[in-house]
Amino acid sequence: MKDRIYIKDLKDNVGKEVTIAGWVDVRRDQGKMVFFDMRDMTGKVQCVALPSRAEVIGSTVSHNFMDTAKEIRPEWVLKIVGIVNKRPEKNVKAGVLNGEVELEITGIEILNKAETTPFQINESTSGINEDTRMKYKYLDLRTERMQKNIRMRHKIIKFIRDFLDKENFVEVETPILTKSTPEGARDYIVPSRLWQGKFYALPQSPQQYKQLLMAGGIERYFQIAKCMRDEDTRGDRQPEFTQLDLEMSFVEREDVIKLNEKLLINIVQTLYPEKKIQEIPFPRISHKEAMEKYGTDRPDFRKDKNDKNSLAFGWVVDFPFFERTDKSDNSQAEGEWTFTHNPFSRPKSEHMPLLMDKKDIGNILTSQYDVVLNGYEIGGGSIRNHEPEALQKVFEILGHKIEDIEKNFGHMLHAFKTGAPPHGGIAWGLDRLVMLLQGEVNIREVIAFPKTGEGKDLMMGSPAEVSEKQLKELGIKLSK
Ligand code: AMO
Repeated sequence: MKDRIYIKDLKDNVGKEVTIAGWVDVRRDQGKMVFFDMRDMTGKVQCVALPSRAEVIGSTVSHNFMDTAKEIRPEWVLKIVGIVNKRPEKNVKAGVLNGEVELEITGIEILNKAETTPFQINESTSGINEDTRMKYKYLDLRTERMQKNIRMRHKIIKFIRDFLDKENFVEVETPILTKSTPEGARDYIVPSRLWQGKFYALPQSPQQYKQLLMAGGIERYFQIAKCMRDEDTRGDRQPEFTQLDLEMSFVEREDVIKLNEKLLINIVQTLYPEKKIQEIPFPRISHKEAMEKYGTDRPDFRKDKNDKNSLAFGWVVDFPFFERTDKSDNSQAEGEWTFTHNPFSRPKSEHMPLLMDKKDIGNILTSQYDVVLNGYEIGGGSIRNHEPEALQKVFEILGHKIEDIEKNFGHMLHAFKTGAPPHGGIAWGLDRLVMLLQGEVNIREVIAFPKTGEGKDLMMGSPAEVSEKQLKELGIKLSK
């Protein structure tokens, strides 16, 4: 739009005639004069329509604007031409954007009208029924709180990208149509039209691809990655969520921990200077000690839980590698072991012999590390088992048959037999981190288009039926 300036820049244009565009936030009709606040992505300003200014002739906007000004309603989209005036001393609102100025209207152009919205846009929607907010997500997004959440999310992601770029990482996209990865949740599957009866799986994480990138000589990979898991949704869990996923070659646990700690500290100090990290370096606790002392593997280390600016990061280490699938079952048969985190993790070096001999399985500890913040698990990773014989042992302990190992993980084993460097990495739950930094209580508040607890997108109406024709093309018959 020609000559448009942002509302945040009005204060630098006192005395000038300028053009702004945006939404009507609130409107106050005072008989002769009409006041309304205009809002764009940078802020708000009070505008005033005075009859004495109306009926100036010229340009495309309506200068005979008093009738228009009386007609407009909240959420109408307007272009406004006006003169930036200093407010009289007694009306100055100190500390508020444009608290010292207002815009005296000289012309109005209506760009679009708006029906009455189902909830008020000019106040926080935290008290509004969430289904309604979700159905009209585009309206919810207009509110100041949501605008802040989404914009800070962008800043965090941009900070991460710039930081990792400087540390010699490359961002690599990995496939969304892939094969099941064993991350412990149920897969979302996608039918193949060309190969009827066969299915892709949506990735639960890029775990195998990132390890294959290490075998591919990339050395330092990261990705802001979408992950899909068909599991019960709750406040800190969505069926579709975002990870900061990264992997590094030629590293030990200490290298991965140090780099991630530095990045987290830098994010907080740069983007959230008002917040205080309780302890640097982050404290570390073994899984065993966490369970004994806090009764959970994601302890809340905060000394003062009432302080909204307190960030208590910490690392949980030395997790058991395997656990019984059903803890009430005491039978010792092989095949009832499952991995606690990730089958691709490497045991702690001193426990490597136990893995190779498949002895004392319950006591094997892994190189896994989780990073926690204020009682939430915000990330987890490990050093990987890059030697094919050792990885093979893990699958044997998990009770996989030889032919299944080959079928499901042959590509990993082969990659490791052809010169894979030692490597390790981590993935952060990005939504959780943004939630905690923004002081929100669930991750839906920091995701532009989240799903409900029942996995629905109420705005798009998904999941939804597909046509008979689409099913036929896929060779699928629904059993009703
Ligand atoms: P993991 O399964 O622990 O590890 O996931 C990493 C982090 O992702 C977050 N997270 C979730 N966030 C929102 N909704 C969910 N449904 C959800 N599930 C997990 C958590 C968790 O700490 N491939 C490995 C990482 C690795 O080993 O490098 C992995 O995905 O904050």
